Amino acid sequence: MRNVARFATSSLLASAASAQVVQWNIEKRSDSAPRLSRRAGSTVEEVITNEKMRGGYFASCSVGTPPQKVTLQLDTGSSDIWVPASTARVCTQRSSSRGGGCTFGSYDANQSSTGQPVSDDFQIAYVDGSYSRGEYIAETFGIGDVELANVTMGLGLDTDIAYGLVGVGYELNEASVRNSELYPNLPVVMRNEGRIKTNAYSLWLNDLGASTGNILFGGIDTDKYMGDLIRVNVQKDARSGQFTSFTVHLTSLQAHSSTGDDAFSSSSFPVPVVLDSGTTLSYLPQDLAEKVWEEVGAEYYLIGQQGAAPLIPCAMGNNNGYFTFGFGGQGGPAIKVGMDELVLPIFTGGPVPFNSGPFKGQDACQFGIQNISGNSFLLGDTFLRSAYVVYDLENNEIAIAPTDFNATTSNIIPFPSLKATIPSSTPAPSQDAPVSSASGGQDYNAQGGFTKQGSGENAGSHLPALELTQMAVMGVSMGMMIFGGGMFLLF
Ligand SMILES: *[C@@H]1O[C@H](CO)[C@@H](O)[C@H](O)[C@H]1NC(C)=O
Ligand SMILES: *[C@@H]1O[C@H](CO)[C@@H](O)[C@H](O)[C@H]1NC(C)=O
Ligand SMILES: *[C@@H]1O[C@H](CO)[C@@H](O)[C@H](O)[C@H]1NC(C)=O
Ligand SMILES: *[C@@H]1O[C@H](CO)[C@@H](O)[C@H](O)[C@H]1NC(C)=O
Repeated sequence: MRNVARFATSSLLASAASAQVVQWNIEKRSDSAPRLSRRAGSTVEEVITNEKMRGGYFASCSVGTPPQKVTLQLDTGSSDIWVPASTARVCTQRSSSRGGGCTFGSYDANQSSTGQPVSDDFQIAYVDGSYSRGEYIAETFGIGDVELANVTMGLGLDTDIAYGLVGVGYELNEASVRNSELYPNLPVVMRNEGRIKTNAYSLWLNDLGASTGNILFGGIDTDKYMGDLIRVNVQKDARSGQFTSFTVHLTSLQAHSSTGDDAFSSSSFPVPVVLDSGTTLSYLPQDLAEKVWEEVGAEYYLIGQQGAAPLIPCAMGNNNGYFTFGFGGQGGPAIKVGMDELVLPIFTGGPVPFNSGPFKGQDACQFGIQNISGNSFLLGDTFLRSAYVVYDLENNEIAIAPTDFNATTSNIIPFPSLKATIPSSTPAPSQDAPVSSASGGQDYNAQGGFTKQGSGENAGSHLPALELTQMAVMGVSMGMMIFGGGMFLLF
């Protein structure tokens, strides 16, 4: 079984800077090693709900002069860099059962000669209820060989997250926007300083089994994807009428297995989905999520006292069925996502068997496509690993192509100039055409979906429950399961 928890022993990354691009390697990790907590015969420890460590993609950076090393989560769903202050309680507190402390690094202003206060109104909150508050500072920020002076960032004096983030989204999504002026965030600083020609970057996460990927500012790498990059328009925020998030239109969803092909209809097409690297799972409208669960035989379960989520036998990760996500209508980019990317361990503490229901005795895994209410949906890492995505914040376009998993070679093409179109890309030909709700048409054409015997055995008024007694529970992925490691901005 693949394991979400990876011991971060290897050195995190090399970065390469050339005249026109800045490449930054990122590593999938969760802070897990010594944090096993076990309590025989009891229910889940309280620690789970407080635990804020989640899966995600991290990169090593430095802040200050001399440089203080911090490992930060890369997030396309938010727009501020912030680092935990070494005095934050989450960093000074050492919980005996969990190791505690800010093992990914923290920032001590007294040890730096370059920090300047900017304002005292830094405040960010994420969908899972976690937060960071403090002040904005201007500091030297290092990414590998590149050092940028005077980068505005948040300093988390009061936070319940033990590591910082690098948000690379639109400036309009900065947390400061409610209170004060916009400031140039990381990709804008790189452009303004001439490190890159235009505000654009490419993200390659590689597959679930591999631990590294990279983000390439100012260019694309044609060796990291297959076929062609096809561009779709970023959608404006419905309320503000402005570009604030990487929302694109999902216009079709198909399932393919040895029993046949299904094209799902949904009253929500075209579905506005945010491509968010800071979220572990993907969240679709109820009707689509239910069709996907039905297709693969996932069941919605109560998990101990903690919440509920779709679960699936871990063995389904070896199923060769896959989904195709289509964007921008006919002829737009289409990305295949295999079951090996969608079946994830629930706990890093070890396998948990189903103790009742149709899968009794089999190991339980969480399913990477969940449901969410509201009108903003998310495609997180369970989708993004299968795609090579180029974000162009100047022209408000996103180009997508199927990823080349485990690619080892590199052929980097920089954007030649400010506002240049994404190199080697073509526009989706019919993205302005209306999309019918029955996009693609017939549901459940296939005989029994991915599981020949089908599912739906829990059609009672009570959800089946997965009991969590006598089990090693890791907070890390428990939080991840319920909240999907959601790290996009709440307001
Ligand atoms: C930095 O110095 C100030 C004043 O000397 C002190 O109050 C503060 O606690 C120090 N902070 C750290 C992180 O040591
Ligand atoms: C630092 O950056 C801010 C914008 O974030 C700018 O207003 C200020 O002039 C810069 N200061 C220096 C010394 O370059
Ligand atoms: C990529 O590499 C990882 C680790 O070496 C391996 O587990 C995985 O199967 C590879 N993926 C593909 C698609 O070849
Ligand atoms: C997700 O679907 C389940 C099962 O239909 C339902 O009980 C739950 O309320 C839904 N959650 C959200 C956030 O819509």
